[in-house]
Amino acid sequence: MTRSVPPPAELLEIAVEVARDAAATAYRMRAEGVSIAATKSTVTDVVTAADRAVERQVLDALAKQRPDDAVLGEEYGAAEAAAAPSGVRWIVDPIDGTVNYLYAIPYCAVSLAAEVDGEVVAGVVRNIFTGEEWTATAGGGAWRDGRRLRCSTETDPGQALVATGFGYDPGRRSHQARVIAELIPHVRDIRRLGAAALDLCLAAEGRVDAYYEKGLAAWDLAAGGLVAAEAGLRVTGLRGLPAGPDLVIAAPPALFQPLHDRLADLDASGGP
Ligand code: IPD
Ligand code: CA
Repeated sequence: MTRSVPPPAELLEIAVEVARDAAATAYRMRAEGVSIAATKSTVTDVVTAADRAVERQVLDALAKQRPDDAVLGEEYGAAEAAAAPSGVRWIVDPIDGTVNYLYAIPYCAVSLAAEVDGEVVAGVVRNIFTGEEWTATAGGGAWRDGRRLRCSTETDPGQALVATGFGYDPGRRSHQARVIAELIPHVRDIRRLGAAALDLCLAAEGRVDAYYEKGLAAWDLAAGGLVAAEAGLRVTGLRGLPAGPDLVIAAPPALFQPLHDRLADLDASGGP
């Protein structure tokens, strides 16, 4: 079978259009009031009606434009077969930073990425409250508002502002807190802002120097990870592993090794 896969720029154009509409829906629903619809892994891992409505809207929009593609979403899972005839798979987090959304803290985003044969080639992250929008294509750079992004040039780990996040499981959080307790004396400071996709985008423009977290799902990482990598950060796991649920480290080249080694010593990928 011959298949024609659109170039990354074309996939990005679709992603941006769909993400903008999705973010508008999320914003409107937040203004109308929000309540918890369900909980997932733990009582603090909440889903609002907006998480579901926004993902449904994204699935419908993609199905119209790209009916032969697969989609993986946080709320509805794999909406299509994992191997799409087109070779394209979309990865969507309708609201990254759901707890911020619930509390109207303006740090939550729609995250949408396109993968071709398992490699993320295009991604957009759009802040639902502020409209800030980060985009990237594989090999085409990372961008916000027409400006090409470059990561921090910091070289001293002791001066690095490091973002991270916590999982929802109390046991995991305890381990993550122990890691932070040992890391914080050696860096400028730590930030726990509450949305992994946005943390990666902030790192892409040096608004934090680096980021790490254990427990990210594909939808937290896909778009923001590409934005960070295209801005020059190294985005990997521990000891040469790819970035994934065990650990994501996103750091500028000069900071990568010292941060990596300290996180390895602290067993940052360990615990439940
Ligand atoms: C969460 C946020 C948070 C991160 C968690 C994620 P959600 O995503 O990105 O910052 O620390 O690991 O699960 O649940 O708000 O989509
Ligand atoms: Ca989410």
